[in-house]
Amino acid sequence: MSTSRSRSRIAATCSRTAGLSRATARSGSAATARCSRQAILASSAAEPTPPTHAPDPRVIPIDWITLPKAELHLHIEGTLEPESMFELARRNGVRLPYPDVESVRRAYVFGDLQSFLDIYYAACAVLVQERDFYELTLAYLRRALLDGVRHAEIFFDPQTHTARGIDFATVVTGISRALADGRELGISSRLIMCFLRDLPAVEAMAALEQALPHRELITGVGLDSAELGNPPAKFEQVFARAVEHGFHVVAHAGEEGPPDYIRQALDVLGAERIDHGVRCLEDPQLVERLATEQIPLTVCPLSNVKLRVVDRLEHHPLAQMLDSGLCVTVNSDDPAYFGGYVGENFAAVRRALALGDAELVRLARNSFTASFLDEAAKARHLAEIDAHIQPA
Ligand code: HPA
Ligand code: ZN
Repeated sequence: MSTSRSRSRIAATCSRTAGLSRATARSGSAATARCSRQAILASSAAEPTPPTHAPDPRVIPIDWITLPKAELHLHIEGTLEPESMFELARRNGVRLPYPDVESVRRAYVFGDLQSFLDIYYAACAVLVQERDFYELTLAYLRRALLDGVRHAEIFFDPQTHTARGIDFATVVTGISRALADGRELGISSRLIMCFLRDLPAVEAMAALEQALPHRELITGVGLDSAELGNPPAKFEQVFARAVEHGFHVVAHAGEEGPPDYIRQALDVLGAERIDHGVRCLEDPQLVERLATEQIPLTVCPLSNVKLRVVDRLEHHPLAQMLDSGLCVTVNSDDPAYFGGYVGENFAAVRRALALGDAELVRLARNSFTASFLDEAAKARHLAEIDAHIQPA
């Protein structure tokens, strides 16, 4: 998939950026530099224009990494760093097919989603005890805090663990105990259990039944794993039952699968958010619907490059999705495997797609409005974003 950036979007970005009171002087792109200079001119017309080759000391750059944000597309099993993998393997007596951390990292070259999933599921064998799930989750939350994450809606794959004989309760209590401790650290959260779409629907239904005694710990249900050949409609009855129990609904769709899988996720499963959804751009009517209804799409740029959904980040459709009026957010998916946490995803798209300040702020604002937080909490986080981009 490849897209090109339109001239009109650059102009629109600049006009919106001029309205921001802090502009970035550390330009990652010509477009950003143009916007920064316009912002400076707008705010201090009487003063001499600074030389264009030197950063203006009056401009305080916005810190994009610590900009308050929510992460809405994060698989907790995908935060297992190779160092922890070895530590947990030692602790639990699990043999890994790699001699050391470096050889694990070298294996992270993927041709498509399935080639990643093969390694990702195999690595889960080191997660055995409740404390393993606790430590994994707490490590993610501590790392996310460094990237300005104030709220995280976290996926887990119970079937990956119960199939190995690990109790559902071990998994969900370990993760939830860490989420409770995370709240003390200043990061709120929700937990979303995903069904593995490459397995039969009857097994997803069994996983849903296992979740019911832990209903209060789980906010929503989702759908992940190998997309092609496993359309959302396969899980119609499972999601209908989940809705009866009051779970929120999300689904991976349009990562490798066609736009019709996005329609099915919306119309058959009742998805409130689409995870990935980048292939919607192949269907203009679908794009119009997604934009009109402001259905959030949780986009994962570095993941899309690593799994060859796009050939390079410079060709990622995120900018076109913003231009189309879609409610997109930026997320990390499986950061231990894809080369960056959410802050790095923000920094990477800013550089590669020459996103302006207004677009980055819009992505951060979308992350809260698209979350399952209540309206009061959303308003608090949006005000915090405003404070972050205002001068002290
Ligand atoms: N897609 C589908 N399933 C997944 C992914 C993904 O990117 N990551 C973990 N499970
Ligand atoms: Zn995902």
